[in-house]
Amino acid sequence: MEINVLPLFSFVLVLVSTATNVLSAQVTVNVDLHRSRNTITDRFIGVTIDSVQIQQSWVADSIKSQKALNVARALSPSFLRVGGSHADSLNYAFTHSGHSHNDLTAQQWDTINAFVKTIGWDFIFDLNALQRNHDGSWNPDNARELLKYSAAKNYTIAGFELGNEYENYPSNFHTTVTPEQLAKDTVVLQSVLKEFPHYYSSFIVGPESSAGYPGHFQGFLQAGGWKPIRAASFHHYYFGGSHHNLSLFTDLGKMNYFAQHLDSVFKQSGSVDPRLPVWVSETSSAFGGGVPNMSDRFVAGFLWLDKLGVCAVKGVESVHRQTFYDRNYSLVDKNFNPNPDFWLTVLYKRIIRGAVFDVTGRDDVRVYAACANTEHFPGGSLVVYMLNPNKSAVTFYLPQLEHQPRLRYSFTAGDHDGLLSKFISLNGHKLELVNDKVPDMKPEAAPLGLLTVPAYSYTFLVFTQAQVSICLH
Ligand SMILES: *[C@@H]1O[C@H](CO)[C@@H](O)[C@H](O)[C@H]1NC(C)=O
Ligand SMILES: *[C@@H]1O[C@H](CO)[C@@H](O)[C@H](O)[C@H]1NC(C)=O
Ligand SMILES: *[C@@H]1O[C@H](CO)[C@@H](O)[C@H](O)[C@H]1NC(C)=O
Ligand SMILES: *[C@@H]1O[C@H](CO)[C@@H](O)[C@H](O)[C@H]1NC(C)=O
Ligand SMILES: *[C@@H]1O[C@H](CO)[C@@H](O)[C@H](O)[C@H]1NC(C)=O
Repeated sequence: MEINVLPLFSFVLVLVSTATNVLSAQVTVNVDLHRSRNTITDRFIGVTIDSVQIQQSWVADSIKSQKALNVARALSPSFLRVGGSHADSLNYAFTHSGHSHNDLTAQQWDTINAFVKTIGWDFIFDLNALQRNHDGSWNPDNARELLKYSAAKNYTIAGFELGNEYENYPSNFHTTVTPEQLAKDTVVLQSVLKEFPHYYSSFIVGPESSAGYPGHFQGFLQAGGWKPIRAASFHHYYFGGSHHNLSLFTDLGKMNYFAQHLDSVFKQSGSVDPRLPVWVSETSSAFGGGVPNMSDRFVAGFLWLDKLGVCAVKGVESVHRQTFYDRNYSLVDKNFNPNPDFWLTVLYKRIIRGAVFDVTGRDDVRVYAACANTEHFPGGSLVVYMLNPNKSAVTFYLPQLEHQPRLRYSFTAGDHDGLLSKFISLNGHKLELVNDKVPDMKPEAAPLGLLTVPAYSYTFLVFTQAQVSICLH
């Protein structure tokens, strides 16, 4: 039986004064189940590491660590994007042993390729765009060396990028590359890939410019950059790593600003080619490595989950979290113990797959809906997830789904450090590796009726008998 879709209402907010006189709000939620806004694939969420990381020993060490492999594999399938500012300094020194710290040696390259192959991730490599000829055009000779070497080793490389945040070249590298030039260079990269049967069908994404530089993002696409690419890619951070300000991490204004920003990005790419997919190819809470003791704590999940929800409903094809490893915004710590966002990311990847639905609502409560992954739930199952970044509990009423049995994944801070907790709890149980393995994250049955989402928490509901027709296959 298909569920009856009620006409859309606006959210109704009723303030109820509780016995303790703490305000709590009741919100009515309706989901438009007739129309899909996007399709979530198994590669909707990817991860990144910085190029400088592949020159460090942890990659080689982690291949030997069963714990590291277990943790990384829990995110599979996934893109791994290796890039960042250091990408534009790297010299591929495969024919001689590297001398400078900008030399990527054959051994380091072998190691990262073994790493992605062992884990089963799809490798995306950001090529150095600053190896240039006197006329300012990109010189692909060194990239060709990397491709030749990689082809001989039979390395699979899913995709390539050319350069990183080229709008910052004047300040970071005292050089300028125009949008027109980068577009031409990207066409050259495409033809270079075609020289290698191994990389004939590898894709390119670009321009890898950061948010808020329309001249560089749209300008690249308009100058012909849209032709060689599979997706228009940009980077996004809400604020800088020096902002030691906890309330920024639950700030609705930041969330809304990102949603508006995404509209602008789609407008820019759509004006060039409305069918061009959009990727957020490097993104996290705060740039410059994240905010110490915040970007890797429980509180980071609010901006991260809201970003996933906004990207899903607005049509982004893939979102790459900066970073899997290292710095203050990583998904795992130095010893490969998961940070709270790791668990959130793994759960999102496991349970959400397929169509995304509009949810009518207010801006100050964040509710998203999508089909459940039919590998784990019956066809037609629906996921509704809600964030409560507020200091009071919020009660949700879902009239369309009022009589539907549901499972609940309720995430709260993992210990008394609250928002600053290094841990996260699922349905009241702190999540940790068990014998160095990632345990199953099990839902619990949630009784019918109103659903209360506690202060500073987020909840995924799975309606396993909803029989939503768009979610049946
Ligand atoms: C957030 O909490 C404040 C009180 O702390 C309350 O006035 C407001 O209605 C709450 N917002 C929502 C959406 O629950
Ligand atoms: C090269 O890699 C592909 C894809 O991983 C694999 O199917 C093929 O057998 C490999 N060939 C050799 C010679 O190792
Ligand atoms: C912290 O961020 C909030 C916005 O969430 C802002 O209102 C407040 O002024 C900031 N505090 C400081 C000390 O910067
Ligand atoms: C982060 O927390 C550690 C202890 O957990 C402390 O030593 C360090 O000073 C904190 N860093 C900042 C920037 O607050
Ligand atoms: C977090 O940032 C601080 C300040 O930049 C740095 O000292 C510290 O090593 C970083 N922590 C991690 C885990 O990278």
